[in-house]
Amino acid sequence: MFKKILFPTDFSDISKKALEHIKQLKAAGAEEVVALHAIDDRTLIEAGYVDSILEQLKDQSQKSMTDLARELEDAGLRVQTFVRVGVPFAQILAMEKEIGDFSLVVMGSHGKSNILDALMGSVAEKVVRKCKAPILIVKR
Ligand SMILES: Nc1ncnc2c1ncn2[C@@H]1O[C@H](COP(=O)(O)OP(=O)(O)OP(=O)(O)O)[C@@H](O)[C@H]1O
Ligand SMILES: [Mg+2]
Repeated sequence: MFKKILFPTDFSDISKKALEHIKQLKAAGAEEVVALHAIDDRTLIEAGYVDSILEQLKDQSQKSMTDLARELEDAGLRVQTFVRVGVPFAQILAMEKEIGDFSLVVMGSHGKSNILDALMGSVAEKVVRKCKAPILIVKR
């Protein structure tokens, strides 16, 4: 039923919690996970965009993705990982369109900002509004 899962992650504790749920979805028929991290180019521009910063962020993200992939593979799932640069919600929706046949999107209700009063973060909210596949929002 939940054969192919899109997992957008900002590597926050809350998205790690979402990862634990994905592992459990193996029992509900999950076979394959596409993990995506988007490096937000708007923060790069605010930080006075420097190529070396982008390269460092890409390296760090790739390393985190390798660890994450290993964890999911150990749980018996096939994994593809992507690190993209752009506006996170737009990259997530673009990936859904690009790959096309997701049976589920799994993400955290909040991420790195984790604002106390917010029902959910802005990335989660925009993806809930616009994604085509069913979505599982894992609460903090
Ligand atoms: N850059 C990103 N790339 C991929 N997925 C992301 C990214 N940022 C957030 N997500 C996903 O969205 C979930 C919710 O994070 P979100 O960014 O919406 O909340 P927040 O950081 O608390 O608030 P905000 O970003 O609006 O200040 C995360 O748990 C993660 O699954
Ligand atoms: Mg965020």
